[in-house]
Amino acid sequence: MRATMSDLVAAVRSALSTVQDPDLKKDLVTLNMIRDLTVTDGGAKFTLVLTTGACPVKKELEDQCRAAALSVAGVTRADITVTAEVPKGQNVADSLPGVRHIIGVGSGKGGVGKSTVTVNIACALAKAGAKVGLLDADIYGPSIPTMMGISRQPYVINKKMIPLEAHGVKMISMGFLLDERQPVIWRGPMIVSALRQMITDVTWGDLDYLLVDLPPGTGDIQLTLAQSVPLAGAVVVSTPQAVALADVRRSIAMFDKVNVKLFGIVENMSEFVCPRCGHIEPIFGTGGAEREAHELQVAFLGRVPLEPAVRISGDDGTPVVLSHPTSRSAAAFRGIAEQVARAASMAALVPAK
Ligand SMILES: Nc1ncnc2c1ncn2[C@@H]1O[C@H](COP(=O)(O)OP(=O)(O)O)[C@@H](O)[C@H]1O
Ligand SMILES: [Mg+2]
Repeated sequence: MRATMSDLVAAVRSALSTVQDPDLKKDLVTLNMIRDLTVTDGGAKFTLVLTTGACPVKKELEDQCRAAALSVAGVTRADITVTAEVPKGQNVADSLPGVRHIIGVGSGKGGVGKSTVTVNIACALAKAGAKVGLLDADIYGPSIPTMMGISRQPYVINKKMIPLEAHGVKMISMGFLLDERQPVIWRGPMIVSALRQMITDVTWGDLDYLLVDLPPGTGDIQLTLAQSVPLAGAVVVSTPQAVALADVRRSIAMFDKVNVKLFGIVENMSEFVCPRCGHIEPIFGTGGAEREAHELQVAFLGRVPLEPAVRISGDDGTPVVLSHPTSRSAAAFRGIAEQVARAASMAALVPAK
């Protein structure tokens, strides 16, 4: 007896229900990640809807789906379209209906590469197809416009600022409110109200991820800022030295205090890659942040080498993931962006224990 079309569709669906999402620990059919399944002349066709375009296991899931579909007798081809629908975080602001996740990037001290990490995560996520916004909230050293190659000021329409756009990322900086020649002597309440304005009085539109470059440190200002934005989670950047690591502990404690989920730690400037001979020298030591993450039982998101291209690209306004996509640091940043996207999806879909 020949299998009918609907038998084949049911058989393929059943085969696909053996493929599990490794994070969500459920099968793809139950998770509604398989859509528009048809079988015509031995060809199975369907859409695999991931929870992020920057999914670290995109390829594996696609391969497993293909193998599952082809395991069904009578199916000889599998035509898979991979897309992503980023789930909405559990802590999103009512005032920002189009924004799915707001993610803070902090560091215990300045100069560890917090802004560099933020712009590269943003550009990597945008490259992977996500809608991304970038909010430069570092009042002490707003450097995001330079790193993104933006020197214009935003327009205001209907009392709302229109974000500037570069490399497919929407951007607003608290620096726009500052006079570059004046020292920053803002008082806490002023800063908080300026930050709230940057969140609510900006036409952000639809965003999968809004990344916030927070000011370095763990003082009152930082604490209040971290508290005044509905963060889905936070990323802490550190260099491997012990001093920087003591600051990491303080950063983690700060996010904990304001009940912000820590997505994990990034180790920046882990090792120097000599551009002439390729020799790798761990100038600041290596593995410190990873050990620390392990000890504190928080996720380690990845390590970024110290490479001249990272700094040059930052100064030039085109982050290294775009200007030198094949470099070691670009690969590291892509991996970190995937881990951040994964953590956001997990936080949205897996209830906290
Ligand atoms: N991995 C890296 N390799 C080379 N230079 C880096 C790296 N990370 C950051 N830098 C450079 O170090 C300086 C400080 O980085 P920045 O992102 O501005 O730090 P922060 O925001 O923490 O103050 C910048 O000049 C930046 O280009
Ligand atoms: Mg900075």
